[in-house]
Amino acid sequence: MSSRIAVVPGSFDPPTLGHLDVIQRAARLYDELHVLVVHNPDKQAMLPVAQRLTLLEESIAAAGVAGKVIVGSWSMGLLVDYARDVNAGVLVKGIRSQVDVAYESPMAIVNRHLADIETVFLLPDPAHALVSSSLVRQVASLGGDVSAFVPPAVARFLDTGARGL
Ligand code: PNS
Repeated sequence: MSSRIAVVPGSFDPPTLGHLDVIQRAARLYDELHVLVVHNPDKQAMLPVAQRLTLLEESIAAAGVAGKVIVGSWSMGLLVDYARDVNAGVLVKGIRSQVDVAYESPMAIVNRHLADIETVFLLPDPAHALVSSSLVRQVASLGGDVSAFVPPAVARFLDTGARGL
């Protein structure tokens, strides 16, 4: 597996500015980046996976890093199986706080045990440290303005397209 190819996995429900920040940083570090929407059975989804893919593609294109980024989804099994399929030797996760360290560390250890794959933690811009998809979902579902927390494509969609979801 190549240490030049990385996967950035997540629920991305919806993608936030924090996600985009991590994707942009990872795109500078790796030759090929797979941004992967993974169905998380522990979470009640707001957006269908296909919508999350569209929003990620639009946001990544607008950020100017689409050239080396492949956006995809995975619901067929372990994350490390996808990583093996695309020859990725690294998983990249964003870490906002000690809470994220506690949540991510066991997954990183398990993934390393399963497939000898390393997880690299990146620190996003502190401006995004308090942004989470779950807060965005809550504010958006109650009619609040989330445009300070999400890429413009997501803000537009939540303002118009998501009515009725
Ligand atoms: O954005 P999230 O919801 O915190 O992302 C969590 C995710 C989807 C990356 C995690 O649940 C995951 O890796 N799921 C894939 C299933 C898997 O491989 N599980 C075992 C290793 S942790």
